[in-house]
Parts: sequence; structure tokens; C-alpha cells
Amino acid sequence: MPRMTPLSQNSVADKDFVSATVSAVPTVMGIGHDAVDIAEIEEQLAASGSRFSELFSVREWRQARNKAAARGDSLSSHLAACWAGKECVVKAWTEALGSGPFPLTLDEFSWSRIEILSNSKGCPGIFLSGEYSETLAGSLGVSADQLTWKISLTHSMTLASGVALLCVREDVKNLGQAT
Ligand SMILES: CC(C)(COP(=O)(O)OP(=O)(O)OC[C@H]1O[C@@H](n2cnc3c(N)ncnc32)[C@H](O)[C@@H]1OP(=O)(O)O)[C@@H](O)C(=O)NCCC(=O)NCCS
Repeated sequence: MPRMTPLSQNSVADKDFVSATVSAVPTVMGIGHDAVDIAEIEEQLAASGSRFSELFSVREWRQARNKAAARGDSLSSHLAACWAGKECVVKAWTEALGSGPFPLTLDEFSWSRIEILSNSKGCPGIFLSGEYSETLAGSLGVSADQLTWKISLTHSMTLASGVALLCVREDVKNLGQAT
């Protein structure tokens, strides 16, 4: 039987191992949670003259249609989850801003530049346009490659919900002080 090597005999000292592990863990700067009524999304999409459909990107529409077709469920349930994801992003971003100002006005803000898209395993991810990645990073005083997002979404027949985390690498100093 192979024997377990006690940690103290490893080449990396326990305290270094622990601190190396901790420093690799991103710090959460903001969290966002949102719940969306699927019937309301359906109404918004059907309302005449509504521009709600434009708040989703071409890729988001394509994915939602493909999911609904593949699973035989409603297009609105996938778009509602997508919408929940977008609102999660704004909430997490707002929290991360702390006392700092919004970098964009409501008129400038474009929801379709915050895309919620799934990978081949079905896991959702957050994709900001290049410009928005820079705007986000600038508003927090870090560079875009120091930020990462985590997101989880769910939906039932009536409700969609999501939670998102905005994380920054541990080695970033002076968080929240925009340059
Ligand atoms: C932020 C936003 C997504 C919140 O959506 P909402 O549908 O009003 O919020 P919900 O109904 O899901 O949840 C309400 C709760 O969310 C929280 N909340 C509200 N605004 C928030 C914000 N900006 N950030 C984080 N949490 C927020 C509060 O706890 C609130 O509860 P309360 O009403 O009892 O205080 C929405 O106000 C919005 O779209 N704002 C405009 C986007 C914007 O500001 N763009 C410029 C950013 S650069």
C-alpha cells in the first residue's frame, strides 16, 4: 500500500502551500442576483412597438432559439434566463463600483453588449464587448485581464433566476480607485 506523505515532508512548506493557494483565489468585488417572471418577458417581446427584443444580441437570440427547438420548451424561458444574467452583471458591477460613479449614463448603456452565452456543455458565461470590458475595468481601476466573471442561471416554467460574481485577481492593489 502506498503511504500518504505528511504535508510537512513535502518540498513546499505548509504555510507557503496555503498562501500560494489563497493568492490564486480571485477576490469577489461584486455579486448580483436577479429573478425574472417569464410571462413578463413574453409580454414585453409580444408588445407592439416594443424594442425589448433589441436588448439581446444576435448570438443570444440564436442560442435561445436553438435551445427551445432542441428541448421543445419556450423561447421566452431561455431569454428570461439570459435577461436575469444581464441584470446580475449590472448589479455586481454596481456593487463593485462602491462609492465610484457609474461610467455610463442610462442613455449610453447597451444591454446587448453584455452577452450571456452558453458553452458546449451548457454552462453560461458572461461576454462583455471589448469596449465594455475596458469601461468596466477602467471604472474599477484595474485592467480588463485582471477581471473574471462567474455566473449560474436557472429557470422553471414561470421564473428565471441567476447569480453572478465579479472577481479580480488577488494581486491587484488599490481596488476601487479608478485611474
Ligand atoms: C440595476 C437593475 C438591473 C436592478 O434591476 P431591478 O429589476 O430594479 O431589481 P430587482 O427587482 O431584481 O431587485 C430589486 C433589488 O435589487 C437590489 N438593487 C437595486 N438596484 C441595484 C443595483 N444598481 N445594484 C445592485 N443591486 C441593486 C436592491 O436590493 C433591490 O431591492 P429594493 O428595491 O428592496 O431596494 C436596474 O435598476 C437597471 O437596469 N438599472 C439601469 C442600468 C444602469 O444603471 N446602467 C448603467 C450602469 S454603468
